[in-house]
Amino acid sequence: MNIQWYPGHMTKARRAMENDIKLVDLVMELLDARAPLSCRNPDIGRLAGGKDRLVLLNKADLADREVNRQWIRYFAEQGILAVELDARSGSGRKRVQEAIEAASQKKRERDRRRGILNRPVRAMVAGIPNVGKSTLINSLARKAAAKTGNKPGVTKGNQWIRLNQRVELLDTPGLLWPRFEDPQVGTHLALLGSVNDEVLDLGELAAEGIRFLQAEYPGVLAERYGAQEEGEPYPILKEIAVARKCLQKGGEPDIGKAARLFLEDFRSGRLGGLSLERPPKKEQEEMEVQ
Ligand code: G4P
Repeated sequence: MNIQWYPGHMTKARRAMENDIKLVDLVMELLDARAPLSCRNPDIGRLAGGKDRLVLLNKADLADREVNRQWIRYFAEQGILAVELDARSGSGRKRVQEAIEAASQKKRERDRRRGILNRPVRAMVAGIPNVGKSTLINSLARKAAAKTGNKPGVTKGNQWIRLNQRVELLDTPGLLWPRFEDPQVGTHLALLGSVNDEVLDLGELAAEGIRFLQAEYPGVLAERYGAQEEGEPYPILKEIAVARKCLQKGGEPDIGKAARLFLEDFRSGRLGGLSLERPPKKEQEEMEVQ
């Protein structure tokens, strides 16, 4: 699928990110656990420079648990600590703090060598739209003792949320952009609901989703909709329309409505935990990770 992005905002986003990143010791890269590679920013390696890094695989509740574990191993093999998370439930708060602690060893070691004691780690959350950045920051901030207020040298408006004595979090997330030029990335992000549906052909997108289920999660279409598992996606979409009573006035199947309903099921976990991407095989890895 060819999807039109929003490169207009992105120049501004890049500049803001380049400024904010100077203020922190640690960059927490938030990815959707269902498609971590499609959510990765192509420039993150360069942007984060020598900073400590941590990958948070968010929306783990919507992904395939076994695949989440594979991703954590995959990132570990690249020397990047990754943890899975469900930012909406707030249950991962402790895990995030532990992960920050583990990922900021380099910084602490550097401080120690320079004789700096007990300076808190400053961290920021960064990611492409819709991965859950605000949800995570709000969940962490709600429980946090206090906002620490503006500090000299900090962009006006930026505040630090003190998570504990050892960690301060920038209260605004860094907005990143995906790999625009890869059509597969566009399709995956659209399936996750991270692209404005108004610019998409939802019938075509639902067809992609059906093809994906046929290949990777056989049985789901039959179980959820009583639909056939084999064959072209459009007749299956028609079956879904009939099964879920998406009908036009004359009783004809309403494909548009069925596509929306199917995508809503797909995105919200009603079809079970689904992972659109699995870690690439060894020989592809070098190309994918920066
Ligand atoms: P952003 O700042 O990165 O753009 O993302 P944001 O926090 O706005 O989250 C985007 C959507 O993802 C929100 O849903 C949010 O509730 C949901 N979300 C965030 N983290 C998780 C998670 O770990 N699991 C699940 N299942 N959902 C998560 P929304 O429908 O846009 O808003 P709302 O109806 O939840 O308020």
